[in-house]
Amino acid sequence: MLIPQPTSYASRPGGWTLTADTAVDAPAEIAALLRELLTPATGLPLPDGPGELRFTLGGAAHLGDEGYTLIVDETGVHATAASLAGLRWAVQALRQLLPVAAYATEPVPGTAWTLPYVEITDRPRYPWRGIMIDVGRWYKPMSWLYTVVDLIAMHRMNTLHLHLTEDQGWRFEVRRHPRLTSVGAWRADSPVGHEHDGLRDDVPHGGFYTQDELRDLVAYAARRGVTVVPEIDLPGHTVAAVAAYPELGNFPEVQHEVATRWGIHDRVLNCDDATVQVMREVLDELVDVFPGELIHLGGDEVPPREWLEGASGRARMAELGLTDPEDLLGWWINQLADHLRGHGRRVVVWDELVGRGVPKDALIMAWRAQDRVVAALRDGHDVVATPQSHVYLDYNESMAEGEPLSIGFGPTPLSTVYGYDPEPTDAPDNGHRVVGVQGNLWAEYLPTPARAEYNLLPRLCAVAEAGWGTRGDEAEFRRRLAAQLPRFDAMGVTYRPLD
Ligand code: ACM
Repeated sequence: MLIPQPTSYASRPGGWTLTADTAVDAPAEIAALLRELLTPATGLPLPDGPGELRFTLGGAAHLGDEGYTLIVDETGVHATAASLAGLRWAVQALRQLLPVAAYATEPVPGTAWTLPYVEITDRPRYPWRGIMIDVGRWYKPMSWLYTVVDLIAMHRMNTLHLHLTEDQGWRFEVRRHPRLTSVGAWRADSPVGHEHDGLRDDVPHGGFYTQDELRDLVAYAARRGVTVVPEIDLPGHTVAAVAAYPELGNFPEVQHEVATRWGIHDRVLNCDDATVQVMREVLDELVDVFPGELIHLGGDEVPPREWLEGASGRARMAELGLTDPEDLLGWWINQLADHLRGHGRRVVVWDELVGRGVPKDALIMAWRAQDRVVAALRDGHDVVATPQSHVYLDYNESMAEGEPLSIGFGPTPLSTVYGYDPEPTDAPDNGHRVVGVQGNLWAEYLPTPARAEYNLLPRLCAVAEAGWGTRGDEAEFRRRLAAQLPRFDAMGVTYRPLD
């Protein structure tokens, strides 16, 4: 039983068993991936050779960039795909066909590594199937980000959106501007309980990722067919950056600390050329670490107050002839989108940019509501659908007694996520479309990996199915989910038990 459900799946009695003699006949990347994923638990060496694990590049062109076929019969395994991406998903499907112990991190001797006879033809509905992880609020160990990549890839999802900067912490090493992490990655304390309780823990918190650490993560993800899309959130959610370099802010004479409270902060970047230049230099280092085409620049929740009150915003408005300070948001993003275009990159921004001078080629991440999906399409953009009503995984699944502390919005039960269809019924016919769906895991109330996993799983499985496009009967999904949860146990990850 697979998650997401393949587009076509047929099984028959009988099975074929991998043994110590089983050899792999596959492109080098795929043979290496099979060994990386299967050898730790099975102990099987899976050497190269004319063998019964056949993964063939070529054919299956009708199944698109990520489609594949996978047949298990009396002769062994045969997968085909037009691309390595498709063969990678065939590997992940194969792993789900094996006994649960295939997900163990240590050898499980005595297991018969038997695959059922199946015939699978499969292709995803959307090219972007993602999860956003917020490491700005609470720093998470790099080892956990590897686990998240494993979870994403296992569900044949292909995007990890890494929200690297926040008011409460800047997590991306910038060599040219070292105070962004030496100062901006650390805060004095954090809320205890809910923000509105007003209690503090008096425990400094922080951490950041070096460029080399992130490069290794990007490479690990790439081997699994997962692209890491980094986000530098600006010109709002930048209290940590302004704390590091007060000259980036609108009132540089005032020294502020890295934010210790959750919520939307007034402190935003000023509109000076020098500040834009610093952020260009940040992006120059970012694109050197993250090779994917898309770079997320944020743009959400930017209060215009400081632009109205400070000299820098007023001067820029006068120069541009603007009357509404919120239009400075579009100006800001365009400065950097132009720069990134010079690097051959394209920007992603949150939906606040729609109608605010957003770059024409920007991909919009529509989060405020499903109607923002339609608004962005009408404005001539491709869209990734992430509406808070359905796929904000920081919202608890239930408000019942005994659930852990959460942000307090929602609840968003598994059935709500599973019921989400990203495709708007009233989409304009202008060549733009929904390119995908993503679950967002904001982390104000998720300080540890275990706490984050509890909110992520199993709702990630429902997001995966929405993205793959095989969402159907929920009762049937829940039966497959019951087979998925033991895989999480074998991996050693936490999840919320099914109701
Ligand atoms: C967001 O949830 N502020 C994008």
